[in-house]
Parts: sequence; C-alpha cells; structure tokens
Amino acid sequence: MTKILIAGATGLVGGYVLQQALADTRVTRVVAPTRQPLPPHPKLFNPISDFASMPDDDRWWAVDGVVCTIGTTRAKAGSAEAFRAVDLDLQLAVARHARAHGAKRFALTSSMGADARSHFLYLRTKGQLEEALKGLNWPSLTIVRPGAILGERAEVRTNERILGAVLRTLAPLLPKAARGNPADQIAHVLLEAAITAPNGVRLVKADQIGRDRS
Ligand SMILES: NC(=O)c1ccc[n+]([C@@H]2O[C@H](COP(=O)([O-])OP(=O)(O)OC[C@H]3O[C@@H](n4cnc5c(N)ncnc54)[C@H](OP(=O)(O)O)[C@@H]3O)[C@@H](O)[C@H]2O)c1
Repeated sequence: MTKILIAGATGLVGGYVLQQALADTRVTRVVAPTRQPLPPHPKLFNPISDFASMPDDDRWWAVDGVVCTIGTTRAKAGSAEAFRAVDLDLQLAVARHARAHGAKRFALTSSMGADARSHFLYLRTKGQLEEALKGLNWPSLTIVRPGAILGERAEVRTNERILGAVLRTLAPLLPKAARGNPADQIAHVLLEAAITAPNGVRLVKADQIGRDRS
C-alpha cells in the first residue's frame, strides 16, 4: 500500500522509475507531476504543472516516498542561474512540499563527484542540493550518485552519445565506477529506496548501482 511521487517522470531515468512503479504491485498509487501529459494508467495521477507555480497545498503531495530525477544542463537552461533554479531550487521545493505533507522517504538522483565545495557549477549544485536535503530531516534519505547515465534518449545529446559509446567499448578495461550506469538500473535503486529504505541517510555510489542484478 505505498504511494510514490515521481518528479521528473518524463526524463530518461524518471521514465524507467514510472514504468517500474506502475508495474510494481507494492505501489498502489503513482503521482507524477509533469509539464507535458503522460499516457494514462489506472494507478497514475498526473497533475500538469509548469512547476514555476507549483501548488504547495494540494493533497496529492501526501505520499509515502518520493523519487526525484529532475535535472537540466547549463546549456539547456541558458545560464548558471537558470540551471540552479532547476537543479537546486525546484528539487528542493518538491522535497519541502512532500515532506510538509508527511512523506517519509526521499530518493535523489545526484551525480558522481557531487560536492558542495566543488569549483564546477554542476558538481557544486548537486552537492548543495544533497546538503540542503539533509537539512529537511527526512526520516529516510537515499542519495544515488551515478556516473554517466546510459540509455536511449529521444533528445539528441551528442556529447553524451559519444561518451556512452566510448564507455561501452572500454567497459571491460575500466573500473566499475567509471563504466557509466544504465538508466533502468538507477531507476530500480531509486524506486526500491522510495518503497523500502530504512531510516537514515544512505549514499549509493556508481559502482553499487546494479550490484543486486549482476
Ligand atoms: N546525464 C548524465 O550522464 C548524468 C550523470 C549523473 C547524474 N545526472 C543527473 O541525473 C538526473 C536524471 O537525469 P536524466 O538523464 O534522467 O534527466 P533528463 O532525461 O534530462 O530528464 C530531466 C527531467 O527533469 C525535468 N525538468 C527539467 N527542467 C525542468 C523544469 N524547469 N521544470 C520541470 N521539470 C523539469 C524534465 O521535464 P521535461 O520533460 O518537461 O523537460 C525531465 O522530466 C539529473 O538530475 C541529472 O543531472 C545525469
């Protein structure tokens, strides 16, 4: 009897989380706010929200666990500020709303190398989000730090495609942490965390993702 909220269900990782949550008999309801509508499903509640004016008092925030896979890139967002508005402020707002409505578990897609003191905007922002989430006193907080995310995207990201191809070719020679992580395996870790993670803060590193499946 678990209700799960997925933030970022139209994305690569979020799409797998959605697919797996809808197929999971432990999950009775999936709340997935998105900017564009998702295909209907009997278990799915899909509020359409532009996120800039996200309602914080709606009852649908009242779930058991949250999976957050929102993210953008500086290039796509257009500026460092716009990137931080999505990768820090928006994700924190989701976490605050769900926590205020009684959610107990939060599972975040962060990144390998996340560090609030990093010189790099991306890693610094991810690290700052991790720190801010710890400050919200989640009974259970799981931070997943994948390496490069492997999977097919509708959108063309040339650099990621090249990196993915290189990583697949070199995989046998690379340490596990540097091989990249398939999006469906990341999704599996996130969903399990949102359903069953014990209390406390848990960090899942790139080389731990998919371990239970290999
Ligand atoms: N790419 C990598 O190799 C890599 C490596 C490590 C960590 N990560 C991190 O892992 C996470 C998931 O990655 P992914 O590849 O699955 O991401 P993705 O496919 O780009 O999906 C991003 C999701 O965030 C949503 N989003 C972006 N901007 C938004 C906004 N302004 N308002 C509302 N929703 C917004 C998107 O919604 P729309 O469909 O409406 O745009 C989409 O659902 C991200 O945080 C990413 O930074 C990525």
